Amino acid sequence: MEEALDNIRKEAAGSEETRRTAIVALQSLISSLETPDDTLHRFGHMNLQTATVQVGIELGLFKYLVEASEPLTVDQVADKTKAGPELISRLLRYYTAIGVVVQSGRCQYAANKTTRNLTEKVVEAGIRHYFGLIAPQYQCLPDLLKKTGYQTPVDGTKTAFHIAFHTTLDPFSWFAQNPTYLADFHAYHALRRQPDATWLSVYPVETEAAGWPADQPLYVNVGGGVGHQCAQFKEKYPNLDGRVILQDLPHSVAEALITPGVENMAYNMFEPQSVVGAKFYHLRAVFHNHPPDVVRKLLETTKAAMKPESILLVDEMVMPEENVNYMAASIDMTMLLAFASMERTEGQWKELFENVGLKLVRTYTYSPLTYESVMDVRLL
Ligand SMILES: C[S@@+](CC[C@H](N)C(=O)[O-])C[C@H]1O[C@@H](n2cnc3c(N)ncnc32)[C@H](O)[C@@H]1O
Repeated sequence: MEEALDNIRKEAAGSEETRRTAIVALQSLISSLETPDDTLHRFGHMNLQTATVQVGIELGLFKYLVEASEPLTVDQVADKTKAGPELISRLLRYYTAIGVVVQSGRCQYAANKTTRNLTEKVVEAGIRHYFGLIAPQYQCLPDLLKKTGYQTPVDGTKTAFHIAFHTTLDPFSWFAQNPTYLADFHAYHALRRQPDATWLSVYPVETEAAGWPADQPLYVNVGGGVGHQCAQFKEKYPNLDGRVILQDLPHSVAEALITPGVENMAYNMFEPQSVVGAKFYHLRAVFHNHPPDVVRKLLETTKAAMKPESILLVDEMVMPEENVNYMAASIDMTMLLAFASMERTEGQWKELFENVGLKLVRTYTYSPLTYESVMDVRLL
């Protein structure tokens, strides 16, 4: 068995693609070995894993194990986290059972690769976001689908979000009264895509922006959160002429980064776009939050502000027609239940653009494994 596993490890280390292929193959192998009882307990206790990992993050438990130069005893972990020794002992026993830490002796525990992964800032922020905001909505999916008669939800005002949080507000307006959730949301989205894996790594910005007048808007990031993409743009192209503008709802702009050369502007994207004739209008992960009729409305609003030289950059997942991976399929289902929305194939994007008189000129994929791409869209 060890020899077989070693061979798989070697094979997986070849490239990102072989690593992912190995994960899929091993998960399929695990499923094929399961008894009904195994399957029951795998699905039955899934939520418990997220909940206990969230507790570990809140206690800083994983950090203490990672920072320690040798295995820690239950009492040492209890001492550092200020939690009760019995609780810590049971948590560590559970973490060991699910492979989140390793037991290295009686009452002694050490970090492994998963423990280290759980101390990455993006992972901490992501777990907080998924556990706090998304998991309660997953719980409401059966109710939602009962209500739609098991048809695809199409009403963005009546989703699992509304059931879970007992509100009639849309999630982004609701954030204004729920700043903790907003902070986790922004932290996760800001950290999720680092500069080397964004549109800036593939798109010919300098060629397209050559000769752009200094007093004209060059780059408008609509629904840009707290401004990380504007900051990345300014950092990569400090000498390009033209205004760089972040637009988002007032409560997000109030928290926005202060980046020299970036104008932070409160703007509701359902209102007419006041920045007219910009070179680039960039919307990342904005349209995937909306059903097709709303996307069309938002596209119309941007189109009305575009001049012939303007380019709309739609930065989204572009789903393959088949064999979509687990991560992307999960995000698509999350869009379905949270927003009555979806992740789209290139054909679905094209149709939306053409419906409003825009054309897709080219799709640049910057993260092939997550299908994340920037689409260059222009006036017909
Ligand atoms: C999924 S987030 C994407 C954030 C950012 N573009 C990114 O990729 O990290 C969607 C963003 O759209 C903003 N948004 C939602 N509704 C909006 C509206 N009506 N007007 C302006 N911005 C809005 C949200 O505040 C949020 O920052």
